[in-house]
Amino acid sequence: MGRRRIGVLTGGGDCPGLNAVIRAVVKTATLGHGVETVGILDGYQGLVEDRVVPLDRDSVSGILDQGGTILGTNNRAAPARYPDGIDADGNPRIVDATERCLATAQRHGLDALVVIGGDGTMSCSAPIAQAGLPVIGVPKTIDNDLVGTDLTFGFTTAASTATESLDRLHTTAESHHRVIVCELMGRNAGWLTLESGVASGADVILLPELPFQPEVVCDFVQSRRAGGRGFSIVACAEGARIAGQDAVVARRVQGSPDPIRLGGIGALVADLVERETGIETRTTVLGHVQRGGAPVAADRVLATQFGHAAVEFLLQGAENQVVVLQNGTIEHIDLMEVTGKQRLVPTDHPLIRAAQSIGTCFGVS
Ligand code: F6P
Repeated sequence: MGRRRIGVLTGGGDCPGLNAVIRAVVKTATLGHGVETVGILDGYQGLVEDRVVPLDRDSVSGILDQGGTILGTNNRAAPARYPDGIDADGNPRIVDATERCLATAQRHGLDALVVIGGDGTMSCSAPIAQAGLPVIGVPKTIDNDLVGTDLTFGFTTAASTATESLDRLHTTAESHHRVIVCELMGRNAGWLTLESGVASGADVILLPELPFQPEVVCDFVQSRRAGGRGFSIVACAEGARIAGQDAVVARRVQGSPDPIRLGGIGALVADLVERETGIETRTTVLGHVQRGGAPVAADRVLATQFGHAAVEFLLQGAENQVVVLQNGTIEHIDLMEVTGKQRLVPTDHPLIRAAQSIGTCFGVS
């Protein structure tokens, strides 16, 4: 397609493997095809504000195993609803900055953008793509909740980190004969909690997709104690909720394409269990520990495959697509198929059934 220069940006929350994608994009484009690459700093904010840096082989040397993103990221800057100063009433002035993005792209001679992000970033990309700057998305998120792909990079690392943390909670809970409730990330999807809960042998796993009954959890913990197991580990997704109630919201982030931040259910469950069972209970909120640090080998490999494929697909003429993994093969699907949707854990998922059959409680009867 005769592309001469492509831009790459990372948007939304960071996750392990972003640098591995950037490296693969730059190396595939420059070494493989003689196509120049530039990095856009801090997600779409850098495109609006014209903060662009050249990227070559040297700039991406030694970053494969680094967590975070060398480009910086931002989850508040959607070009179509861009916070630009303060209005007369003291509120953030929201403007459509799409034209400013296109002007930056033109100034730097960009033919296309590789956008590495989650659902929010993909949604932000649709107006840019519609306005005429071709985009190819690379799906990232520790939540693993993007539709169209069997896996997002970053998830496997986050699940390993969460598993290790749950293992550590296990030994202290057992020593003190306590219940420890660990609240895990994932927004409204339970993938991270399910995977790490099963991997660490959590006694109770609470998922957003299966609203739980508190009495089932309390009875289960009591029966463990009666059976000689004085401690219990509860892996609780931040989006888990009591049947008939809403998820617990920690805060709302102004200007973010995804403004709701969940959090607080862990403490609520811990209070409830302690009150009802009389067993000493503690809460741990794992938080951003799950997003930090070096990617595990599987994420480095997936990120490299995604970054490489993004450039190859672009150069073959693909536009406004997202790179996905489907049944072991890297494909691309339309950007619009991914935006505004979430891939949740099916309630009859085989891993839930397997865990139930080995005695794990999901808080449902
Ligand atoms: O989407 C990734 C994620 O880490 C979620 O699991 C979590 O709910 C959210 O981002 C936290 O966002 P922030 O970094 O803005 O607090």
